[in-house]
Amino acid sequence: MTHEQALVGSMDPRYAPVRVGDTVRRSAGSSRAAVRELLLHLQSVGFDGAPRYLGTDEQGREILTWIDGEVPLSPYPAWAMTDRALADLGGLVRRLHEATATFRATSADWSPQWADPRRGPVICHNDLYPENVVFRDGRVVALIDFAMAAPGRPLWDVAIAAEVWGPLGDPDRRDQHPVDLDGIARFGMLARAYGLEPERAEELVDVLIEERAQSVANIRAEITGGNESWIRAWADVGGDDRAAADDAWIARHRAALIRSARG
Ligand SMILES: Nc1ncnc2c1ncn2[C@@H]1O[C@H](COP(=O)(O)OP(=O)(O)OP(=O)(O)O)[C@@H](O)[C@H]1O
Ligand SMILES: [Mg+2]
Repeated sequence: MTHEQALVGSMDPRYAPVRVGDTVRRSAGSSRAAVRELLLHLQSVGFDGAPRYLGTDEQGREILTWIDGEVPLSPYPAWAMTDRALADLGGLVRRLHEATATFRATSADWSPQWADPRRGPVICHNDLYPENVVFRDGRVVALIDFAMAAPGRPLWDVAIAAEVWGPLGDPDRRDQHPVDLDGIARFGMLARAYGLEPERAEELVDVLIEERAQSVANIRAEITGGNESWIRAWADVGGDDRAAADDAWIARHRAALIRSARG
């Protein structure tokens, strides 16, 4: 029997993917037809920054290609948080959005969880954490974990990436990133790498605020619904206090963020 290696990084151990040789198997329970179609579309248009979908195995699990490289876990190492990596990420997310603008899914079973409630013209990844980005030699080469992908406005993904990679939030509470990162400057670097038109800088900040509110509301709903992983994770980081402190920091630096994104 082929060796199966458990993969770390999962919020929900029930659906943790495993590695088998040069493939990844994802449990049928977390599999979505729309995501499979998306991966096939990305392959068909030559987008190389995502795993390819190869079919299902005898257990009904999705088979994806393994992408060689390093995936940073929290606390994020300095090599994953360089300005160059941030610029790579902005470019890759832009290419993803361009590659999905021509995509017409026949399935619509997208995860609603982190999706843009207004929907939109591209497919957003919606989970642009470093844990879902593959690096090689310090360069970003691919996005993985499209489980949360869904139609959205492009700025929705840029906002998520900015928040997590800036990082944006109260620096006194920063515990997952190198302390010397200048979140405001990096907000602008990401916006430029993505190719954001300068006149949309303020809109990006507004979408960031909207996305944060939506994300906290989702987490609270998960907690109210009894999701043990979220109950623990939110308590561990003091989620309510932290979200309030980060919101206040973003509000205080609104003008600087807009200036930075305008370039
Ligand atoms: N195709 C792939 N190529 C390389 N590494 C992968 C691939 N798929 C998964 N991994 C590794 O396994 C880890 C967990 O996989 P992934 O992010 O897809 O699952 P997950 O976070 O458990 O999923 P979910 O968010 O749906 O619970 C990743 O952080 C990465 O290190
Ligand atoms: Mg993941």
